[in-house]
Amino acid sequence: METVVSGIRPTGFLHLGNYFGALRNFIKMQDEANCFFFVADYHSLTTHPKASALNEHVKNVLVDYLAAGLDPEKSTLYMQSDLPETAELYLLLNMLAYTGELRRTTSLKEKIKNDKINNEDNVNAGLLTYPVLQAADILIHNADKVPVGKDQEQHLEMTRDFAQRFNYRYEVDYFKLPVAYNFGNELVKIPGLDGSTKMSKSDNEASCVYLSDSPEIIRKKVMKAVTDSGPIESHQEKPQAIENLFQLMKAVSTPETLQFFEGQYDNCQVRYGDMKKQLAEDMILFTAPIYEKILELRNNDDYLRKVAKQGADKARESAAKTVKEVREIIGIRSL
Ligand code: TRP
Repeated sequence: METVVSGIRPTGFLHLGNYFGALRNFIKMQDEANCFFFVADYHSLTTHPKASALNEHVKNVLVDYLAAGLDPEKSTLYMQSDLPETAELYLLLNMLAYTGELRRTTSLKEKIKNDKINNEDNVNAGLLTYPVLQAADILIHNADKVPVGKDQEQHLEMTRDFAQRFNYRYEVDYFKLPVAYNFGNELVKIPGLDGSTKMSKSDNEASCVYLSDSPEIIRKKVMKAVTDSGPIESHQEKPQAIENLFQLMKAVSTPETLQFFEGQYDNCQVRYGDMKKQLAEDMILFTAPIYEKILELRNNDDYLRKVAKQGADKARESAAKTVKEVREIIGIRSL
């Protein structure tokens, strides 16, 4: 059976973009692979969250994972920081990573640009070595496949590079070369409600619909979504914000509903108020079972603790085996 590993950084609640981009694939893979899904809390430290917020966010992601359908009896669900073995493998892999390639990583360059950091003295080493830690997450279970969005492809490429360097340097065929994985043509792009092409909480809180949003909040957010004064020519090309509404509808509504509004748009008869009302109700219908589960799980700390403990125990078994073998290969042996 193939091994699958993936994680999500706990920066808050999970939204529809996380669901369609990652979570939905995780759920599908549970039945066909040996799956490890974790909450990447070490990774979120690169941006120094408040301790209380981090704690809260880690719990929220675990709750959202379970509510969306990850099953602790099928998959191994755990917190990244419950595996000190990952930290050790990260240290060992750091010896194989070049500072030049780390500096050139797209995600780091974007971060520097977005935060307007113009002095490298402000780039912490954790940020620089983020891809090495991610490689450790993946290689600690010697994964075959990593279900992630397109933005993670470079990190996966680097994971393969480190794995290959290890195999080459120590003349072994130990690490597999894991590939980024998604269910190809089923990949749906989830845009924001604010006209942006990607639902992302770091860009704009109001552009996101969270799995844990109540029906009232979803209605409010969707009704505020950006639109324009409507098409004036039949079959007119859609501006980004309008295209986004249709994309969202494609994800949560029935094909008939989508077709109906497509037709209205093409005849210049579309009423965005009606369309948004329909979209909001379909989102509510779609998220309702998850939302109800979230409310239930939130107050069940005993159960969450049990799940986390069980997952950590299972994940550590696999991680301990890898670290033991890697130490052996490198030549770290007890006397
Ligand atoms: N970097 C990933 C993201 O931001 C999160 C992540 C950390 C991850 N470690 C991972 C994803 C290991 C897959 C495998 O989305």
